[in-house]
Amino acid sequence: MDKFIIKGGRRLEGEVTISGAKNAAVAILPAVILSDEPCVIENVPYISDVRICIKILREMGAEVTSLGKDTYRIDPTTINKFCVPYEYARKMRASYYFLGALLGKYNKARVSMPGGCPLGDRPIDQHLKAFTAIGAKYTLSQGMIDLTADKLSGNQIFFDVVTVGATMNAMLAAVKAEGLTVIENAAKEPHIVDLANFLNSMGANIMGAGTDVIKIRGVEHLHGATYAVIPDQIEAGTFMVAVAATKGDVLIKNVIPKHLESITKKLEKIGVNIEQFDDSIRVWVDGPLVKTDVKTAPHPGFPTDMQSQIATLLCLAEGTSIITENIWEQRFRYVDELRRMGADITVNGKVALIEGTGKLMGAPVKACDLRAGAALIIAGLAASGVTEIEDIFHIERGYDCMEGKLRALGADIEKVSVPDKAEEKPENDKAAV
Ligand code: EPU
Repeated sequence: MDKFIIKGGRRLEGEVTISGAKNAAVAILPAVILSDEPCVIENVPYISDVRICIKILREMGAEVTSLGKDTYRIDPTTINKFCVPYEYARKMRASYYFLGALLGKYNKARVSMPGGCPLGDRPIDQHLKAFTAIGAKYTLSQGMIDLTADKLSGNQIFFDVVTVGATMNAMLAAVKAEGLTVIENAAKEPHIVDLANFLNSMGANIMGAGTDVIKIRGVEHLHGATYAVIPDQIEAGTFMVAVAATKGDVLIKNVIPKHLESITKKLEKIGVNIEQFDDSIRVWVDGPLVKTDVKTAPHPGFPTDMQSQIATLLCLAEGTSIITENIWEQRFRYVDELRRMGADITVNGKVALIEGTGKLMGAPVKACDLRAGAALIIAGLAASGVTEIEDIFHIERGYDCMEGKLRALGADIEKVSVPDKAEEKPENDKAAV
């Protein structure tokens, strides 16, 4: 088991380069299944969710070759299995994209019910609604979802809630369905546009991605393409907050500033300076940090995936801030850990009240999900003393070499391996010898 040890109190300074977006990559890699030829995918982040995606593709029979640090050539023409087993799906929620991609290509799919971060109830009813609307039938048994279709035909799909996953899955499943599919109340996140751009680069006909109505005219064949994943909006936002929390000064490179607007606006209200360039932004702090209120919402609103990080910053600001979480009911689980570091936060349902104390103190803490882990790193960087973060496998699901990038900015952070408690043998315990 690995953990991070952070000696806090160092300003972050210098330059950092953002990796490809997790939530785009985990859909684009399965989307390659739809192609009749090999594809090359660039700017793929080195994170465990991506490694699981690649294992699943290989297990299915695809040939995946690494062409350097962040580039893969994937040949889907050798796929001969159409199943994602529990051992992979339990580790990565995005395994549900294999449902849409396999259904769209082969008219059948068998995927274990997905796992992922524990954020509360995570239904997939809207995914199933989309698949059935275009002609698939499904059964759920022993934790497996089986999809089959004689033929997929375009149809109207109206989502009851705005959902990123179901919007992407509907696109994957409908891209080759006969006729026109119209998705209404679609999610508008940058990764939805990225997936549509990738599918279109393979010959798909998708219009309107990035608005709430997406129109897909089915095509018979998709050809190979070379495509670069967009930069990770949430990784960039996490670094922006980390710089602010340490009152640092950093140029964050390989970003799309437009994707960061809601984060930028909130940080400016808190007192953070931000200067935008074409594909980079400079973030620095030269004055006090002040309270603000944040409500999470689907894009272009403030992303839920940045909620715990900004909450940490607000602990370091002056005044009382209110955070309202509108997407995931269990996204305040990190609060108990931050309290161990001296934070004054009261949670009532989906609202958290933060009394900014201006300081945090190092403590042993545990990451309970990916973004909670990122928030604890930020807290550790800004805190006085030493912070030890356990369960960092959550963080490694979605951040590409977080500690290396932070060290290059001057942070005192190291990853250490500690023996698994179950494997520890008590000293002087003769029975254990
Ligand atoms: N929902 C339903 N039914 C469905 C699907 C979703 O009711 O069939 C509800 C959910 O319960 C939730 C809301 O709709 O309340 C939004 O869920 P969404 O489907 O948008 O979430 P997701 O696709 O499962 C993705 C990201 C999450 C991110 C959310 C919201 C991936 C792999 N995951 O999840 O990312 O929080 O969108 O933006 O893209 C993360 O990166 O830390 C993370 C959790």
